[in-house]
Amino acid sequence: MSEHIDVTRDGRVMTIRLARPEKKNALTAAMYSAMAEALAEAEADRGTGAVVLFGSGGTFCAGNDIADFLAAPPDSRDTPVGNYLYGLARATVPLLAGVDGDAVGVGTTTLLHCDMTLVTARARLRLPFVSLGIVPEAGSTLLLPRIMGHARAAELIMLGDAFDGARAVELGIANHVVEPDALEEKTLALATRLADQPPTAIREAKRLLRGDQKALEAQIEEEMRVFMAQLTSAEAREAFTAFMEKRKPDFSKVG
Ligand code: COA
Repeated sequence: MSEHIDVTRDGRVMTIRLARPEKKNALTAAMYSAMAEALAEAEADRGTGAVVLFGSGGTFCAGNDIADFLAAPPDSRDTPVGNYLYGLARATVPLLAGVDGDAVGVGTTTLLHCDMTLVTARARLRLPFVSLGIVPEAGSTLLLPRIMGHARAAELIMLGDAFDGARAVELGIANHVVEPDALEEKTLALATRLADQPPTAIREAKRLLRGDQKALEAQIEEEMRVFMAQLTSAEAREAFTAFMEKRKPDFSKVG
């Protein structure tokens, strides 16, 4: 349970809303746990035919809560973030997202596990892991090159520049750009269409589309190993402390 995650149901569609707009929906351990729990519930329930993720306050998600990273860096896969990431990677229930505003870090890598994503033109996606002294997670180092090829994936990961909704569609991360006012309605309409499909066929199709499940989980595991090692490095500490102190990081003394 988390006060910052709202889970609602309408017929066969479950909606998970990130509701921490004052912190740009940055994810805390409690939020990961609540999302992992909701995903597990949807996965186990044949009455749920689709799960939709939305942000709130004009933001999708600003990534992992950086104060949390500094206070309690995750040190094993058996953590709220681990449960959430493996929940995404193992889900057979169709997942959708409606993305407006910022989608940073896990806010973007989550989309790689969604079957359909609608974005607004003003959506701003970003993978700043390397700039923060850490490495990408959620299997994204396997999924991104698969979706868009090595060169484009390397550019997103190594430079960490933001890109908008139209570019997300070009890169194959999202399906369509829609007007902000229509985002939720259109995402929910799509979710209802998926939820009305034959339940076993659509889950099996999703499983087949994913391909090698073992390879995906092995990549998530290896990413986590490096991620956790980097998280306590001097360069990551400098990057996170600089963010909290609202200044530019200085990596010249931490090499
Ligand atoms: N962790 C913790 N707090 C965060 C956060 C995060 N990931 N992202 C935003 N916040 C907090 C800010 O510290 C600020 O808190 P304050 O009002 O107490 O000062 C509040 O949310 C609003 O954020 P702000 O940066 O003022 O909003 P913005 O509209 O100028 O910028 C972002 C939005 C998302 C571009 C910017 O907040 C950002 O870059 N966040 C960090 C993203 C990131 O690196 N995530 C980690 C990926 S691993």
